[in-house]
Amino acid sequence: MSKINAKQLDQGVIIHADIIDGNEISAQVRAEVRKEVKSLLAKGVSPTLAIILIGQKPSSRVYANSKIRACHEMGIEARKIELAKDVPEQDLLDQIDRLNRDTSVHGVLVQLPLPHHINSDRVIERIDPAKDVDGFHPDNVGKLSLGLDCLLPCTPAAIPELISRCGIELPGKHVVIVGRGNFLAKPIMNLLVQKGNQADCTVTCCHSHTDHLANYTRQADILIAAIGVPKFITAGMVKDGAVVIDLGANHIEDPEHSHGARLVGDVDFNGVGEVAGAITPVPGGVGPMTVAMLMKNTTKAARRIHRLEGV
Ligand code: GUN
Repeated sequence: MSKINAKQLDQGVIIHADIIDGNEISAQVRAEVRKEVKSLLAKGVSPTLAIILIGQKPSSRVYANSKIRACHEMGIEARKIELAKDVPEQDLLDQIDRLNRDTSVHGVLVQLPLPHHINSDRVIERIDPAKDVDGFHPDNVGKLSLGLDCLLPCTPAAIPELISRCGIELPGKHVVIVGRGNFLAKPIMNLLVQKGNQADCTVTCCHSHTDHLANYTRQADILIAAIGVPKFITAGMVKDGAVVIDLGANHIEDPEHSHGARLVGDVDFNGVGEVAGAITPVPGGVGPMTVAMLMKNTTKAARRIHRLEGV
């Protein structure tokens, strides 16, 4: 079991739900990735991830640097390519083409969001699907929806890992997702509705036009919040004992915090923690797992590119 059974304190408040500890579970995945890196190195393959970072947006720099740090910890080679915020789109596409051709690079990631003058769809489509470790390319999105082997998007892929590694079964569960975005909600729907012992769920997707939202969320065995509104999910929207997965990453002002802001999820953690059976905190829930899944995807891409699957 990888959840903290002692009820954890959140700013002095004791909650009743078990806390799903993303740091602890991601440490398990990272240990597996380290083994896989060693196995690839023994076969002469040095898994390598290229990260393109455009401009100086502080949050993008923080995210990109945490991915690079994880690479170093896993023994994965990281190449950071920094481009000016006014870089012409064509220069970015040319850079991606070079990384696609570079046989020593196995993963290509362009940190989002991009400046407004750049078309994100064109950029994502330019990445070789075999090196698309974000799982954002339409080829990978399509394969996921067809249940075919592909590079899975990291945060959606983290969810069944987190839940099943806590000893919670997924097959037969009613999953309600609040949100319908292309990067989170839609791939989560496609992943959890597939056949398999880490899926086989009944999936309901709710969004801003869903009438009587709480009628749906209260039916969830597993409730997934991907809304982008701080503390949107409150205790009255949650069934007793439900598993609650919070994908929110909202920065709210807090003069008492060192940077004048702090990170909160889409779930009212303290209130929902009173009724849920298990809950992911923010930070320390899904976030650390997303990075671990990116590392796993990079080794998977390296193995596939060098045709070492099953070797
Ligand atoms: N920006 C925020 N999350 C992500 C992510 O998962 N991948 C990329 N490429 N950019 C992001």
